[in-house]
Amino acid sequence: MDSFAGRLAVVTGGGTGMGRELVIQLATEGCSVAFCDLNPDTMRETALRAEKEAPPGTRITTHVCDVSDATQMNRFRDEVVEQHATDHVDLVFNNAGIGGGGSFVSGDQVEWERTFGVVWTGVYNGCRAFVPLLVAGTDGYLINTSSVNGFWAALGPGVPHTAYSAGKFAVKGFTEALLEDFRLNAPHVKAAVVMPGHIGTDIVINSMRIHGGTMLGEMTKEDIKAMRDSPLGRTLPPDATDDEVRARVNMIGEFFRDAAPVSAAQAATIILDGVRNGEWRILVGDDAHKLDEAVRKDPLGAYGPEGLSLSTFVG
Ligand SMILES: NC(=O)c1ccc[n+]([C@@H]2O[C@H](COP(=O)([O-])OP(=O)(O)OC[C@H]3O[C@@H](n4cnc5c(N)ncnc54)[C@H](O)[C@@H]3O)[C@@H](O)[C@H]2O)c1
Repeated sequence: MDSFAGRLAVVTGGGTGMGRELVIQLATEGCSVAFCDLNPDTMRETALRAEKEAPPGTRITTHVCDVSDATQMNRFRDEVVEQHATDHVDLVFNNAGIGGGGSFVSGDQVEWERTFGVVWTGVYNGCRAFVPLLVAGTDGYLINTSSVNGFWAALGPGVPHTAYSAGKFAVKGFTEALLEDFRLNAPHVKAAVVMPGHIGTDIVINSMRIHGGTMLGEMTKEDIKAMRDSPLGRTLPPDATDDEVRARVNMIGEFFRDAAPVSAAQAATIILDGVRNGEWRILVGDDAHKLDEAVRKDPLGAYGPEGLSLSTFVG
């Protein structure tokens, strides 16, 4: 797909981060966009910024939708068809995601299932709702966001990362399987899997909020004990008060955003360049490329006390 001008794109999770930047960059090129998020305020901000950059005739619509809920996703699809008076869409970016669900063994089951529900089921629901509209067009592109955690199920030794990794592996596997399905059954539709490394967004802060404060501010005594026992917590002075532990957790989210080697806007540009070039495998960031190489070179060395660590590849 050489140009996005005059096309219609669907983006999930367009309120902040990479989703917001995708909406703005697509609109700037004259692509109409229908995007969803949980948060109407952040969506309004994205829409205002996109409309400011967009050439006349470009339509931006916002839709409140929890991607993990199939009924809401289907309603989003129906709104897109009605509000854009269309029988097809050209691009679908299943981008929404949250972190969480670290330990399967000792973590909270509700948090685990919520994380997997957004990361995997959200992409599945997006495909069920919108792939028929891609197939209904003359050429279409499905872009599903996985992660480096779609080929490497860890952050490093000592940090379990089970729900997010399971979901991202599912997104990668499903999207790769669709390549052959589309080739046979919808040859005018392409698919791509996006695998970002560390990108400067508020995903940590947003995820903490979505998990209802169990990870932020309202941390219980058990949360605080778990935090103190974690690799990060062990870097705190032993006499740190509970409030100091809470403040440290808040800082982590800001540090994650501010220390990233690639901004959300740069990531969106890399993703859109990949789509323009017809790629089906879009790695974002040097860390993602290096990790990909390292896991392929020594798959057995990817995990364990001497295993790979994301921080080694960033910077
Ligand atoms: N930031 C990174 O380092 C990184 C790395 C690899 C992959 N990713 C993936 O990139 C994608 C975008 O993440 P980001 O870093 O821009 O994060 P972000 O938190 O800035 O953006 C994600 C957006 O999705 C929305 N969202 C969350 N749950 C939702 C739901 N149930 N329904 C609808 N919207 C929902 C959030 O409100 C937010 O606006 C995610 O799939 C994430 O897992 C991010």
